[in-house]
Amino acid sequence: MAEVVHTPRVFSGIQPTNHLQLGNYLGAVKRFVEMQNSGIETVYCIVDLHAITVWQDPADLRVATRELAASYIASGLDPEKSILFNQSQVPAHTQLAWIFNCVARMGWLNRMTQFKDKAGKNRENASTGLFVYPNLMAADILVYHATHVPVGEDQKQHLELTRDIAAKFNNDFGVDFFPITEPVIEGVATRVMSLRDGTKKMSKSDPSDMSRINMTDDADTIAKKIRKAKTDPDALPSEAEGLEGRPEARNLVNIYAALAETTMESVLSDVGGKQFAEFKPMLAELAVEKLAPISLEMARLMEAPDEIDRILGRGAERANAIAQPILEQTYDIVGMIRSR
Ligand code: TYM
Repeated sequence: MAEVVHTPRVFSGIQPTNHLQLGNYLGAVKRFVEMQNSGIETVYCIVDLHAITVWQDPADLRVATRELAASYIASGLDPEKSILFNQSQVPAHTQLAWIFNCVARMGWLNRMTQFKDKAGKNRENASTGLFVYPNLMAADILVYHATHVPVGEDQKQHLELTRDIAAKFNNDFGVDFFPITEPVIEGVATRVMSLRDGTKKMSKSDPSDMSRINMTDDADTIAKKIRKAKTDPDALPSEAEGLEGRPEARNLVNIYAALAETTMESVLSDVGGKQFAEFKPMLAELAVEKLAPISLEMARLMEAPDEIDRILGRGAERANAIAQPILEQTYDIVGMIRSR
């Protein structure tokens, strides 16, 4: 069988739950913008159907969806250049997910660590949507025949599952239809850690607001959170080896490097020998310089929710135009009859 070469296309998504935090920005949105500007077609989704795998208050969900759209745009995503939309407006995602529910194996989903983390001890009480969540994620990606998916480190296992689903589908039906997608987990900020515990991921759902910087935080709050961030008593090293066993120090240096768009080595060569009392104000200044304009622009965009809804609607039309034909071809491959 001749191998099909798929045109490069980028897809990624973020859940509209709580405020976007710095890890989402550095690990995902900032890199979405870089990829948009590299000239490849880029499709960025607000995955509202993924969000409801755990309970969401409907009014909060609507606000969080618009706020995420506003952070996409305020961070530099251009709705003319990239396709920006919310998942529930493109039905092909859930339609393809059903096919993938029938391709993926129970054993594969049983191995997903995110399900185990999110379901916690009370597995019996988790929604069935939470269990099949990765199949919907595979459908999000493959319904666009996306070839590249920029994400943070925590999504790696889900992307491996996406590759397994694509390969099994192709193999079961004897086709070379779905691409074997490449995860793009690159840069210094693929795993931004909590400001209170350098061994835990920074997360929207951490009960402590001091553990993260929200994209909606104002300058004073950002500075305060960095000032109070956990550190150790030693000075900063001038080389990366000196960060061994110092997760909080490593995290702050990584955040600095990502915001300054440089490497950890280059930051350390400048700040090596400094105490945290001197480094933290430098980091706070840089963070405010880079993040405050985004939060200001977000607030401005949030004043015109109808305009955000219009942008998402237009994005959904463009997304549908790509996804619908791929869904129809999938149905044909599987053997579904449809009138033409
Ligand atoms: P979500 O909404 O949890 O996170 C969105 C993106 O932010 C990244 N991220 C981080 N990166 C670095 N450091 C952190 N502390 C950090 N926290 C979060 C995540 O890796 C992710 O890239 N399942 C996905 C949403 C999704 C999706 C998709 C992604 C649904 N369908 C299709 C890509 C393609 C999720 O829950 O991301």
